[in-house]
Amino acid sequence: MRLAELQLQDFRNVEQAQLTLSPRTTVLAGENGQGKTNLLEAVYLLATLRPLRASRLAELVRFGATRARVEAAADGPGGLRRLAVEVADGTRQAYLDGKPIERLDDYFQGLAAVCFSPDDLLLVKSGPELRRRFLDRAAWSRWPAVLAEARDYLRALRARNAALRTESREVEESFRGPLLRTAARLLRRRHDLLEELAPRVARAFAEISGPGAPPAGLRYRPASGMPMAGTEEELAARLGEILALRLERDREKGYTSAGPHMDDLSLSLGDRGARTFASQGQQRALVLALKIAEIDNLTAVLGRPPLLLLDDVSSELDPAKNRYLLEYLARLPGQAILTTTDRHLLEPAAGPGALFYEVVRGRFTHRE
Ligand SMILES: Nc1ncnc2c1ncn2[C@@H]1O[C@H](COP(=O)(O)OP(=O)(O)OP(=O)(O)O)[C@@H](O)[C@H]1O
Ligand SMILES: [Mg+2]
Repeated sequence: MRLAELQLQDFRNVEQAQLTLSPRTTVLAGENGQGKTNLLEAVYLLATLRPLRASRLAELVRFGATRARVEAAADGPGGLRRLAVEVADGTRQAYLDGKPIERLDDYFQGLAAVCFSPDDLLLVKSGPELRRRFLDRAAWSRWPAVLAEARDYLRALRARNAALRTESREVEESFRGPLLRTAARLLRRRHDLLEELAPRVARAFAEISGPGAPPAGLRYRPASGMPMAGTEEELAARLGEILALRLERDREKGYTSAGPHMDDLSLSLGDRGARTFASQGQQRALVLALKIAEIDNLTAVLGRPPLLLLDDVSSELDPAKNRYLLEYLARLPGQAILTTTDRHLLEPAAGPGALFYEVVRGRFTHRE
């Protein structure tokens, strides 16, 4: 799927913009605070229906406006389609060919996006929340159904937490079934995703780091320590046993203490945990390897690379890793949008057909 004519209206600091995206590389260059990331955020919303960094959808609407809109033509397996997303009153509505969508599957057909921003470089050292977010984003790019599945789990979790705090044991028990079922589905997805990614991460890390580097590994780590083998029913039963054992404590705390919302992704170099032992450079190499693994995996699954959004990444990588990344991108036959404060950093990436835009105060001007 390739995005063509992109239009924004009242999205963050962009009052109105219309730009042609290159089928290969589009570069947005500009000073800090001009709207480069805002445009990536708009494209990410259009491609995934999820906000990239906003914690509330309302943040996306330009100050003083009531409705934000992003729209593009998308060329994919089903021919040319028009995608649009509107944000108003804190909710979003997606449109396919001008009609409100009824089935998410129709909307997502052939559509996938991977974003890489300097924030991702914290992935190795940060707390588990960022890694869970990575897992969930990667899982729903891989299987769009995860978007609804993750929401179902959160809803079941909130309902059970509320029941733990206020209701009788019987009422709590009636909320446990949906929680276990939706949790098991999410656990399975995350586990399957990591099975797919692990060999790709190891390969990319070895390539980035050169000979003699320790092998990179990744594994799903449930906070409860439960084993991840087995069917969804078995996972649900196992988690059910754990929650039953913790019932009294969870009732006291008013909080479900085991499940996907508590788990982590464990990254290792050789037999050591990367979080504690990886050097600064190794952490970056590992994050780069994770992103490349995700892109490679989606490419294999979709039959073509996902849309890539690279937010000012070159300025954060050392020259060797930056060169590796840009050469990787140049080999990839997909569409990418890159932002930079220094256009020269990205010149090696800009092959034939690249388009450059200068970004000033939410306006995008085409430059040769
Ligand atoms: N809802 C909104 N309405 C209007 N302006 C907004 C809104 N949300 C954010 N902004 C403005 O957008 C600007 C930031 O844009 P953005 O994050 O895209 O900058 P950038 O070009 O990526 O800069 P940097 O190079 O520093 O990352 C800020 O000036 C911010 O005040
Ligand atoms: Mg930015």
